[in-house]
Amino acid sequence: MKMTVVRILLVLAPLLLWMVSRVPLEGIAVAEDRATGREVFLQNCALCHVSGLGMAPRVDNLQEWESRLSAGRSVLQASVLRGKGGMPPKGGNASISDSQAVAALDYMVSRVLQSERNPQVAGR
Ligand code: HEC
Repeated sequence: MKMTVVRILLVLAPLLLWMVSRVPLEGIAVAEDRATGREVFLQNCALCHVSGLGMAPRVDNLQEWESRLSAGRSVLQASVLRGKGGMPPKGGNASISDSQAVAALDYMVSRVLQSERNPQVAGR
């Protein structure tokens, strides 16, 4: 009897953990929330911006970002929200909010800057 309970708990544990970990992500998105920005990035931006697909500037390559960063955050923000060149608005996912898209942008920029401080991450 005791063993059965333990077995059921073992089976359910990953499911419970998954449910608990999902809760904050489905709450109200806060633009400043790094975790949310990372999540949005992974789901909507990484495809192009990790590999450089379609000539997208890569997150681990500061050189590809220098001129873009110098244009300023509001210019980059407008590009993300309205699209630019090969990039559709919000990376092609109209269901994410403006603040989620901006949170992903901020997360991306923090990774770009990190690649400069830590060249090993950037692989150059
Ligand atoms: C389908 C591929 C693709 C996806 C998905 C994508 N991008 Fe891009 N992104 C591009 C390409 C290509 C460019 C270069 C556009 C150009 O300069 O012509 C670009 C450029 C950018 C720039 C620079 C804009 C500028 O003004 O120079 C930013 C910032 C950016 N993307 C952020 C994002 C964010 C944030 C997401 C996710 C919400 C995202 N991208 C999703 C392909 C993509």
